Amino acid sequence: MRKILIIGIGAGNPDYLTVQAINALNQVDVFFIPDKGVEKTALQLLRKDVCERFIADPKYRMVRIPMPTRAAAGADYRGSVDKWHAELVEAFSGFITEELGEEQCGGFLVWGDPTLYDSTLRIIEHIRKNGLALEYEVIPGISSVQALAARHRVALNGIGQPVLVTTGRKLAEGFPNNLDSVVVMLDGDQAFKRIEAEDIDIYWGAYVGTKDEILVAGKLSEVMGDIERIRSQARMEKGWIMDTYLLRKGDGK
Ligand SMILES: C[S@@+](CC[C@H](N)C(=O)[O-])C[C@H]1O[C@@H](n2cnc3c(N)ncnc32)[C@H](O)[C@@H]1O
Repeated sequence: MRKILIIGIGAGNPDYLTVQAINALNQVDVFFIPDKGVEKTALQLLRKDVCERFIADPKYRMVRIPMPTRAAAGADYRGSVDKWHAELVEAFSGFITEELGEEQCGGFLVWGDPTLYDSTLRIIEHIRKNGLALEYEVIPGISSVQALAARHRVALNGIGQPVLVTTGRKLAEGFPNNLDSVVVMLDGDQAFKRIEAEDIDIYWGAYVGTKDEILVAGKLSEVMGDIERIRSQARMEKGWIMDTYLLRKGDGK
């Protein structure tokens, strides 16, 4: 039966690869490479580094999967994601059937951890449910959330308290009343600018784990202007940005 390994390769630094991920890389006959949008450049570089450095006997093939374009979300965010996922299922399914032999092992290299804001797992499960016989395994990776917290040397949660991991889109609805710690990903609009509480600290990081890493921490009200400026300059210079941040209410240590 065909086997698929969904391998988390960490959020930007080849040193983040786990021993389990390295062992998985060495089993793969065909790597499927979805041509992704914003992280494309970084992902290409990391993938190259990881394969050159960790695969002992490079007999694998790389097969590119052109990604269907995702329609602008508009009012129906969930509907646009579902439609895009359906297109991805069809594309991935076609490439797996055509390019992977019945007894071969395919691999997807996923930025960070495959269980956090990534569609690969859902798509593969969907393909299996549609009737294509395959087994699959998920190899965890160091996510940008873990990398960010480590680089700032800050615990994600206050003592005995929960932490919410969410998106910029959700944060734009307001800082949740009943929480002290919120990690925000996928925030193209800098939703932190709309948060007004005086006693909130921010731990912000862009390109975390890479040679271009930028970190800023401080009282949100005092550093938000700096972050905005640094972010837009970095984005302009590189042409893309990936940033994540932890917001922490002052007494939530
Ligand atoms: C599609 S999600 C992928 C998350 C990934 N699976 C993970 O485990 O980190 C992309 C978002 O992750 C965050 N991100 C990923 N890598 C990052 C990095 N090296 N530095 C800062 N943020 C990063 C950003 O918020 C970005 O918008």
